[in-house]
Amino acid sequence: MPRTTSDAVPHGRLRALEQPVLEAGACTLRPWRATDRAQVVAAFADPDIQRWHARSMTQDEATAWIAHWPGRWTEETGAGWALTLHDEPVGQISLRHLNHADGITDVSYWVVPAARGRGVASSALTALSGWAFGVLGVHRIFVDHSTRNPASCAVATRAGYQLEGTKREDALHADGWHDMHTHSRLATDGTARPH
Ligand SMILES: CC(C)(COP(=O)(O)OP(=O)(O)OC[C@H]1O[C@@H](n2cnc3c(N)ncnc32)[C@H](O)[C@@H]1OP(=O)(O)O)[C@@H](O)C(=O)NCCC(=O)NCCS
Repeated sequence: MPRTTSDAVPHGRLRALEQPVLEAGACTLRPWRATDRAQVVAAFADPDIQRWHARSMTQDEATAWIAHWPGRWTEETGAGWALTLHDEPVGQISLRHLNHADGITDVSYWVVPAARGRGVASSALTALSGWAFGVLGVHRIFVDHSTRNPASCAVATRAGYQLEGTKREDALHADGWHDMHTHSRLATDGTARPH
């Protein structure tokens, strides 16, 4: 059945771009490298990252996870960046699922304990949002987080993502179902408060 609307983000637009390096305050977003594997494994040894992302990570899984990002870019299904300080990975941010028809993506992020509390996540989310709205041309970006995770709520809020509501028992975590907040920014919203 043909759609009566054109894709908000046409197929081919992401693939035609080179993955950018984005500056976000003291932090730089850059594509992942195979040599980042040890930092990814170490990050997933953190109980908070394991808890909120409901994942563990072996060396081989980290290798595969890093290697899968270029394919996501060419397939135009998503995109991932390392958050780096002095070129060392201290976190990640990604566009998890790109919906071309409606111009929507969701975002995921984590930062290792040693780099927290310095504005890394919120600056990265602000910078990536600017690129996704301004260059990729998405219409809406959303962040879902557990209502028991106030740090993620503060990151989204700082980056200008409005709280839209609570989805009941929307995600299964190791300790059971969690209610999830949805925050969003639209291309037409104002810019975030600088950190
Ligand atoms: C959530 C997380 C990404 C925050 O990263 P960060 O780089 O420390 O965040 P920022 O320094 O940009 O802080 C942004 C805001 O969050 C607040 N914040 C940070 N950690 C917090 C905490 N534990 N509790 C409450 N607020 C917190 C900061 O005070 C800041 O608030 P402000 O805008 O009012 O100044 C990081 O703690 C993390 O990776 N946690 C584990 C994984 C996770 O929760 N991922 C998100 C899943 S949805």
